[in-house]
Amino acid sequence: MSSQRTALSFYNARTGNVPEGVRFDTESDEAAALFVERLQAEAATFNSLISTENGEWIVKGFIDIFRNIYTISGDTKVVSKLIELMLFPYFVAFAERNNYKIGVTHLPINVTHVGVPPIKCQGTKTKLVPFILRNIRWCDDGQGRWIEPFLGSGVVAFNLAPRAAILADTNRHIIELYEAIQSGEIRSGTVRAFLVAEGRKLELDGAEYYYEVRNRFNESANVLDFLFLNRSCFNGVMRFNRKGAFNVPFGHKPQRFSKAYITKIANQVDWIRMQMAGKDWEFRVAGWRDVLADARSLDFVYLDPPYIGRHTDYYNSWNNVEAQNLAAAAQRLPGGFALSMWLENRHRKNTHIDEHWAGLDFRTSRHFYHVGSTESLRNAMDEALVIKSGFLAAELSVEVKPKRAEQLALTI
Ligand SMILES: C[S@@+](CC[C@H](N)C(=O)[O-])C[C@H]1O[C@@H](n2cnc3c(N)ncnc32)[C@H](O)[C@@H]1O
Repeated sequence: MSSQRTALSFYNARTGNVPEGVRFDTESDEAAALFVERLQAEAATFNSLISTENGEWIVKGFIDIFRNIYTISGDTKVVSKLIELMLFPYFVAFAERNNYKIGVTHLPINVTHVGVPPIKCQGTKTKLVPFILRNIRWCDDGQGRWIEPFLGSGVVAFNLAPRAAILADTNRHIIELYEAIQSGEIRSGTVRAFLVAEGRKLELDGAEYYYEVRNRFNESANVLDFLFLNRSCFNGVMRFNRKGAFNVPFGHKPQRFSKAYITKIANQVDWIRMQMAGKDWEFRVAGWRDVLADARSLDFVYLDPPYIGRHTDYYNSWNNVEAQNLAAAAQRLPGGFALSMWLENRHRKNTHIDEHWAGLDFRTSRHFYHVGSTESLRNAMDEALVIKSGFLAAELSVEVKPKRAEQLALTI
């Protein structure tokens, strides 16, 4: 027990917060003190691992596959990411030597910078990630899994980066792309080379080339074509006709794949690859019923189904009956769950929550939706996060702003 609590305190060096529900008793106080002593001794060696005897960084810059060299800025995000990359193997070795486990996932966390995955989709929760992850209380205890049956872009899972997860969607193209990145079959270099070559053809032939790729994708379902279409189609939406063919028109930007845009996408691929690295994640093409059937008591299920009444297509045929069945199934889950759903906008209120999720805790957040181009879809919307009783976090009111000396702890 004490080593488990110590492991928790190790993990929490990331935020400086003690996770909710964890109380230190005398036994674990001793373990924590021992842990701090060992960690301090270890931390004393870190300088020599990342700097020269004169105190200079051993990393001077980055080089890309075109041999462009970029120097490192003093941006603390870049610096702390570098420290994390360089020191992480030493943290793992430290944990192994001292019999600590690392990798326990716990919520709530304060996300101050939201990472963005390479795929865009409707209803993505990019803006809501901090709200979602600071309102759920859950610790995987080293055994539970983060389960997302409606993965979409995966922005919530990628930002949480849980130790173990089942990440599923009926849309096989999303899952196949993420599986290819997970296996290393597709890397940022592959993506960059592909988008440079295809982007040149798009620049030359414009819409004609876009539709050629779209036809090719609808015949062969290549994951790189999927990424190309997703990032150059009209409004970045993802839509398939009733036969499963991608049918979004061209976004009218032949010069879409500029050098900077390709770099951005390649970096997003690198980021998600890093978030998955060493994790026990299963990507699955499946409907929500099959996924929920596998949920166990230590798991936490985050549900983000399509909105009722919005566009329906091959992968998104959501309706009232599905929504009601999901509500019933979720409330029978053995472990925790949370559901994202719109609550109200200036025109109407979502009665589904009162009718089918009554009695559960929930928190709300005001948010602006940008789906499609019509003004009516750009309204403020109140979003609800419905949470199973016992899994609601206390409000996190204090933002932890570490001083420089504490930044190492922040990035562990
Ligand atoms: C609102 S989106 C999820 C957005 C995601 N949370 C994000 O932030 O990007 C809903 C997703 O559910 C998937 N989906 C629709 N019907 C489904 C079903 N019956 N079972 C599983 N996934 C489904 C869609 O393909 C879509 O990717």
